[in-house]
Amino acid sequence: MALATLLLCAFSLTLLSYGRPEVLENRNSSDLLCTCNKIAVALSGASQYVFDIEHAFSSSTEASACSVEPGSAEDLSKILRILGSTRTPFAVKGGGHATNPGFSSTTGVQISMSRFNETNVNSKSGTVEVGAGLTWDQVYVTLEPTGVNVVGGRISGIGVSGLTLGGGYSYLSSQYGLTIDNVAGYELVLPNGTVTSVTSNDNDLWFGLRGGLNNFGIVTKFIFQSHPQGDIWAGILLYAEDQLHAIKKALVSFQRKSDTKASVMVSPTYSLNQFFISVIYFYDAPTPSEVFDDFLAIPTIEGSVSRTIFSDFVQSLNSQPGLRTFYNGAPVTQYSPAVFDAFVNQTKLWGARLSALDKNVTLTLSLEPFDKGLFSHGSASAYPPDRSHAVLPSSLTLQWSNASLDETMAYALRNISDTIHATALADGQNVSHAAVYVNYALFGTPLENIYGGNVERLRKIRAGIDPEDVMGLAGGWKF
Ligand SMILES: Cc1cc2nc3c(=O)[nH]c(=O)nc-3n(C[C@H](O)[C@H](O)[C@H](O)COP(=O)(O)OP(=O)(O)OC[C@H]3O[C@@H](n4cnc5c(N)ncnc54)[C@H](O)[C@@H]3O)c2cc1C
Ligand SMILES: *[C@@H]1O[C@H](CO)[C@@H](O)[C@H](O)[C@H]1NC(C)=O
Ligand SMILES: *[C@@H]1O[C@H](CO)[C@@H](O)[C@H](O)[C@H]1NC(C)=O
Ligand SMILES: *[C@@H]1O[C@H](CO)[C@@H](O)[C@H](O)[C@H]1NC(C)=O
Ligand SMILES: *[C@@H]1O[C@H](CO)[C@@H](O)[C@H](O)[C@H]1NC(C)=O
Ligand SMILES: *[C@@H]1O[C@H](CO)[C@@H](O)[C@H](O)[C@H]1NC(C)=O
Ligand SMILES: *[C@@H]1O[C@H](CO)[C@@H](O)[C@H](O)[C@H]1NC(C)=O
Ligand SMILES: *[C@@H]1O[C@H](CO)[C@@H](O)[C@H](O)[C@H]1NC(C)=O
Ligand SMILES: *[C@@H]1O[C@H](CO)[C@@H](O)[C@H](O)[C@H]1NC(C)=O
Repeated sequence: MALATLLLCAFSLTLLSYGRPEVLENRNSSDLLCTCNKIAVALSGASQYVFDIEHAFSSSTEASACSVEPGSAEDLSKILRILGSTRTPFAVKGGGHATNPGFSSTTGVQISMSRFNETNVNSKSGTVEVGAGLTWDQVYVTLEPTGVNVVGGRISGIGVSGLTLGGGYSYLSSQYGLTIDNVAGYELVLPNGTVTSVTSNDNDLWFGLRGGLNNFGIVTKFIFQSHPQGDIWAGILLYAEDQLHAIKKALVSFQRKSDTKASVMVSPTYSLNQFFISVIYFYDAPTPSEVFDDFLAIPTIEGSVSRTIFSDFVQSLNSQPGLRTFYNGAPVTQYSPAVFDAFVNQTKLWGARLSALDKNVTLTLSLEPFDKGLFSHGSASAYPPDRSHAVLPSSLTLQWSNASLDETMAYALRNISDTIHATALADGQNVSHAAVYVNYALFGTPLENIYGGNVERLRKIRAGIDPEDVMGLAGGWKF
């Protein structure tokens, strides 16, 4: 069957990477192979199958029929035309850190953006142009000697593409807003293959691309506003359970102060049958103000915090790759004592419960406070649907080994998010319609819970830009 297909389609094997024969035979592959061949004929460059389909976490890596690494917007234009006309399922991978299966992975054609890898500083316009295949740590390393920086991811390995297209929370967000609030423009390949640039003059696309992920085409380049960057003060400290009360007090008092150069991420964690708390500290100057004094008086079990440089700090923070991983969000307006207690309670409760099923379980429920003006730095966008007050996204991360437990893990993450939501409501917080951060939301989350009142407008924009629903062939949150 496969051979017959190959003979029917004119193709050039050298230009495209195919799955192993058993991968190809596993599926109804005749149409897929034909599409792969058409793409190979149209393109100029090789690709590396294993690298292309690889994702940070095993639960979102899939065996694709073939993979392709476009080298230019024109390549992508040809690819999208072929995929659209043959109605072939595909996926677009930037940094490959999506935890929802099928969002940037596929059994169809995997597009890897890795060849879009340039970072160019334009000091005249105060902007930086960044290729869609880069990770944030790569960008920070390139920018380090230039004295400017961009508002991006906090941990190494995260892609510029997915983070920016979903919103983007950064160490610099209390100062400058979300990553989308610091975008000056995009180079976009529209679903019909037309290459275009998008700026604030483009009403609908400008709105949709800021939070709307892969619904409107494929971005090849981002243009970011830059900000001056000097040495920072940062690090990570670990605390034992007996310091919970002191950490709670320090976190509550931290949120009362308003020092936009300061950032903390407080993470109750259950790992290898142990409970502990990690706190990431960041200050955008070589020495911090007194904003962390309460935290720094608390005895630690491990870690250090000191003057350092931005790129070194981000590179020092790694996610645990390879394991199965799901994320969820738990939006609140404040990490009050009651909400803090719920995070801790849920970490212990579900940590112990799930570790009994799989000893490799790590559950991390992160409290991420930001300044009250968080959403005041940008204009209306797909996400967040309401910019009138800050909502704190809270990342809930669950990692494990045993694939037969996937559904159990998804259930746990939904239950944890719902329980925190109920606690915040009971605490008097206005969270009944608080938006879940799109880049944290677990698959199955209703679109309305992410995009709120924007869903209707986003559906209309999508229908206008992509009447053939080409981007519907790729997974993700779909309008
Ligand atoms: C360890 C870890 C740390 C994180 N830290 C942060 C953080 O500090 N702040 C934050 O805001 N988020 C954070 N996140 C969430 C992160 O923003 C998302 O996981 C994001 O989707 C990752 O982007 P990526 O390019 O690596 O993902 P990918 O899996 O490559 O892509 C994610 C989505 O974007 C689409 N996409 C990718 N490239 C393109 C493109 N060029 N054009 C159109 N669509 C495209 C994909 O199709 C997919 O739907 C973190 C996640 C992890 C796992
Ligand atoms: C394969 O797909 C074609 C059309 O896409 C369909 O007609 C055919 O029945 C499928 N074959 C199998 C074995 O599923
Ligand atoms: C970009 O990738 C190409 C290979 O595809 C490599 O030769 C080049 O050095 C990379 N550039 C950067 C800035 O990483
Ligand atoms: C968590 O809260 C529940 C309900 O309030 C309580 O029964 C349970 O003992 C708490 N668990 C832990 C580990 O604190
Ligand atoms: C836990 O991880 C180890 C090492 O990766 C692995 O050998 C083991 O099978 C995993 N345990 C489970 C329950 O899957
Ligand atoms: C994985 O989980 C399933 C379902 O709970 C269980 O039957 C199986 O023994 C587990 N496998 C391992 C290696 O622990
Ligand atoms: C969470 O799960 C517990 C059982 O583990 C259940 O009693 C509770 O109702 C669930 N809560 C929510 C909000 O789903
Ligand atoms: C509560 O939040 C909703 C949306 O999240 C907003 O529309 C409403 O104005 C808020 N109410 C108050 C009293 O702040
Ligand atoms: C492609 O789509 C854009 C946006 O809808 C539209 O302006 C353009 O005319 C289309 N191009 C072609 C060739 O259909």
